[in-house]
Amino acid sequence: MLVKSIVTLAVAATVLSSFMAQADERYRPVDDKVVIEECGACHMAFQPQMLPKKSWIKIMDGLSNHFGEDASLDEKAVSHIKKYHVEHAADSGWKDGKFMRGLSDSSAPLRITETPYWVREHRKEVPDWAWNDPTVKSKANCIACHKRGNQGDYDDD
Ligand code: HEC
Ligand code: HEC
Repeated sequence: MLVKSIVTLAVAATVLSSFMAQADERYRPVDDKVVIEECGACHMAFQPQMLPKKSWIKIMDGLSNHFGEDASLDEKAVSHIKKYHVEHAADSGWKDGKFMRGLSDSSAPLRITETPYWVREHRKEVPDWAWNDPTVKSKANCIACHKRGNQGDYDDD
């Protein structure tokens, strides 16, 4: 019994430390089929860690007018996707809630690209003209610049 629990502990420690090493530089890739399919249809499926719970709830409750598009889904899909985003949101207790920096408890931005953290990370690094480059077109087009954005890796420029 004792031997078995020591082995279990050792495995748990290894898993935990590799997860923590990853959390340093990566956002957990979206691993839910429904989310990938429904929220990755028009743009990449953004990682839930990039907005607070309140934002995701607002987004999921307003899909019929989603940035000028109708992205409506049936009730079952909405509640499934909402739950996934809330569980993994920037303020869900996820270790590295960088995207909460500078946000008050009550704020619920609808865009990742309007969060203080995102704005700060890009203000220094991306010249104004680069946003209008024909291969980029929109700030929300993350994978134009972050080729491994889908895997949660934004450290590659
Ligand atoms: C019918 C197409 C469509 C679908 C489906 C769709 N979106 Fe969007 N989404 C858009 C458009 C268009 C924009 C605005 C893009 C831009 O500004 O370049 C957008 C923007 C966003 C943004 C803001 C990006 C930023 O600027 O930071 C978030 C967050 C987002 N969508 C989440 C979702 C989620 C969650 C789902 C799944 C429930 C979803 N989207 C499904 C079309 C879609
Ligand atoms: C025009 C190119 C461009 C676009 C589009 C873009 N970024 Fe970036 N981003 C950069 C550059 C350049 C940096 C700074 C260099 C670096 O650290 O990779 C950066 C930095 C970041 C960082 C901090 C990197 C780190 O070390 O943790 C994150 C997170 C990030 N971007 C997320 C996003 C997300 C999410 C989107 C889409 C909503 C996006 N970016 C769109 C160019 C871009």
